[in-house]
Amino acid sequence: MTPVTGVVIPDQAELRRRVGRLPLEQKVQLLTGADFWALYAAPEAGLRRVVLSDGPAGVRGESWDERDSSANVPCATALAATWDTGRVEAIGGLLAREARRKGVDVLLAPTVNLHRTPFAGRCFECFSEDPVLTARIGGAYVRGLQRSGVGATVKHFVGNDSETQRMTVDVRIDDRTLRELYLAPFEAIVRDEGAWAVMAAYNGVNGTPMVQSPLLRDILDGEWGYDGLVMSDWTAAHDTEATAQAALDLAMPGPADRFGPWGDALLAAVAKGTVDEALIDDKVVRILRLAARVGALVDLPPAPELAREAPDSAAVAQELRAAAAAGFVLVRNDGLLPLPRHGPADRLGLLGADRRLRVALLGPNAEVARTMGGGSATVFPPYTISPLDGLRGAGLHVTYAPGVTSHVRAGEARAPWLLRPDRPFDPGTGAEIRFWTETGELAGSELRDGATFMWMGGLATSGITEPVDRLEIRCVIRASVGGEYQLGISGMGRYRLLVDGAELFDITLTLPEDADVAEALMRPPQHLAPVQLAAHQSVNLVVEHDVKSSSFAGIGTFVQLNLVPPHGTDDEEIAKAVALAAASDAAVVVVGTTAQVESEGFDRTTLALPGRQDELVRQVIAANARTVVVVNSGAPVLLPWAQDAAAVLLTWFSGQDYGDALADVLLGDVEPGGRLPMTWPASEDGLPSTQPADGVLTYDEGLFIGYRAYDRDGREPMFAFGHGTGYTTWAHESLTLDHAPDGAPGVAACVQVRNTGSRRGREVVQVYASRPDSAVERPAKWLAGFATVDADPGETVTVGILIPERAFQHWAGQGWSTEPGPYVLAAGPSSATLPLTAWLELS
Ligand code: BGC
Repeated sequence: MTPVTGVVIPDQAELRRRVGRLPLEQKVQLLTGADFWALYAAPEAGLRRVVLSDGPAGVRGESWDERDSSANVPCATALAATWDTGRVEAIGGLLAREARRKGVDVLLAPTVNLHRTPFAGRCFECFSEDPVLTARIGGAYVRGLQRSGVGATVKHFVGNDSETQRMTVDVRIDDRTLRELYLAPFEAIVRDEGAWAVMAAYNGVNGTPMVQSPLLRDILDGEWGYDGLVMSDWTAAHDTEATAQAALDLAMPGPADRFGPWGDALLAAVAKGTVDEALIDDKVVRILRLAARVGALVDLPPAPELAREAPDSAAVAQELRAAAAAGFVLVRNDGLLPLPRHGPADRLGLLGADRRLRVALLGPNAEVARTMGGGSATVFPPYTISPLDGLRGAGLHVTYAPGVTSHVRAGEARAPWLLRPDRPFDPGTGAEIRFWTETGELAGSELRDGATFMWMGGLATSGITEPVDRLEIRCVIRASVGGEYQLGISGMGRYRLLVDGAELFDITLTLPEDADVAEALMRPPQHLAPVQLAAHQSVNLVVEHDVKSSSFAGIGTFVQLNLVPPHGTDDEEIAKAVALAAASDAAVVVVGTTAQVESEGFDRTTLALPGRQDELVRQVIAANARTVVVVNSGAPVLLPWAQDAAAVLLTWFSGQDYGDALADVLLGDVEPGGRLPMTWPASEDGLPSTQPADGVLTYDEGLFIGYRAYDRDGREPMFAFGHGTGYTTWAHESLTLDHAPDGAPGVAACVQVRNTGSRRGREVVQVYASRPDSAVERPAKWLAGFATVDADPGETVTVGILIPERAFQHWAGQGWSTEPGPYVLAAGPSSATLPLTAWLELS
């Protein structure tokens, strides 16, 4: 449990007394959001407005607006790759301070669904394929938040492990698999950390939508003793009575006359007697308990230690830079890394005094890196440090070429081409937006710093009260070089685009019928048209949008400006990149996915890198053997050239300070601290599918996901679960077993490791359990515990790792059971390298 010292949580009787002060209408009103992100206040019960926000890569706050920026922390896979609960707890604390700064009480995070398959579009937002690693890292995230008085929302309960048809799919999971894999992280976090909120998923499990599933009352509340709040995923609740009778407490978003099944319909059900008022009271009690925990019952004394101080941006940057490096996984290094700061002496003396290492920085993600995945996890960081910024900032001699285009769609218009009309000579980017009423009056205007505009829950969020009929977006486009520029728009509805007053197009964009909201946001319909511009020519661009024509699923209004500058063909760009690599001391190629590949709202159709990136890598390696390939993706991509590269560094979506962390690691100022939180596949074969058949997705593979499947089938992945190296070497010397401390059930595995290299480093010691000749079907091995150790060169450290009783148990239909007999614990640096073993006999 994570107690918040000083916060008084009223007992059940006191909460009930408060509920008793409210009439039925008000109680029912409280059960649906007041708007997209907030709950209603009820002063009679002492309740102020409570604000929720996505999550998990930062705290976005109540607006979707680049002016309201948020610290962008590494994505879930990056955090899990640290295997470092202390560090992740500290990130939770940082997020809590961000939440307080932005007036947020409850973060809609962490996501603890599992990587059932790397094809799932939202893997970057989930920690791991393993339930124990997910539970420990997710638990640390929750602890960090809640210790500072900000609520965590553990989501999405349960079986939301892919995106295809996520709003309606019925996921069929056998009981044992459900308990041992998919429920396990929720159980551990609810029991051990006392999570304050849980989000019920869109999908159904075994025939019932999760927002009305018996799993909520029977398992979550009944078996695990959960006393927190259950909210629906956004627009997931539909059936008035079934959701009211289930242990769902809050339907989001609101208000009830626009979204959700409750409001007047629920009042009518109570009047009819089909829903008992006592059920309503129970739900309100849980809302008030959550409010007490986050300090939103205003008559209670505020907690002294709630994080209130504004985060210091330099300290945040430092923490995020270190956290990113701690999650980078060096999966291959033939000695090239770390790179020296200085190049070999130039025999002809052509370099003069400039002996800085000459690095060719190549690849489509080098200049515009991805620091987060797409969908509701989107936040607007105050800045992002790209690899190009990071390497230049580190004082290297850097030349740059993108190599190939990986986007199939046009990207967001950006600097140096898109300029705000009020500052057409500044390097910053942006636009002016004017809001027009039906009668042609100007209702307001605003200056924006980006090119993606989203008003969730209506334009009222812009502070405009009159109904808006038309939007006008004005900006300046300035050509850097002469040539053909593609200008365009993404969104839903009617758009008219004018260049210097002349119409370029007038078009109505429509979404496919079955589009998911997140898909609509991440890859909406797009239209582009070519414009010829001379070098340095500026033109005025105006976009008119008919707001009522917008068909954004009733959620709000969305417009994105797009621009593609003149560029060479991929063949020409590859040739340029190869020439730079050949003329440099080393090449760094940053490859990765795009926003159209890894996002909420859709799954992946291939694990291959988009575009001709594989070809780029192969040609650069051929031109310069001293090539490091840096992978900027949130989840596995195929790396068919990996064995030919001198070094391969997996860097995830690592937050706003990504590029600085990359420079630190490439130059050896910091070692890459990560180990793989998932199995990295060598091919797409044999992986579970995300595609439902007739609305049903059956988890046929049962317990065998990730390394469990590779072990069973005797298949070799590209890189094993838990793999990764730093810049020193380790000997795993001995494993002994002892009683668990304080007589706790389970055992303590004591592992002795020695730093055999020449610099201080950190090792992740992993312990796996197995049960030879088990009478029940089991994986060959499963993660049972882990710990990180730090040691100086030559230093020996012994670490005690608690292996809880549950590590030996299996779900036996009605409860957990420990099969008596021998078990093996094996320890080592990865699931594929376990040099130490110890036996134990359980009765
Ligand atoms: C996502 C949730 C998110 C919610 C609010 C949903 O589409 O599945 O994870 O918290 O939207 O943005």
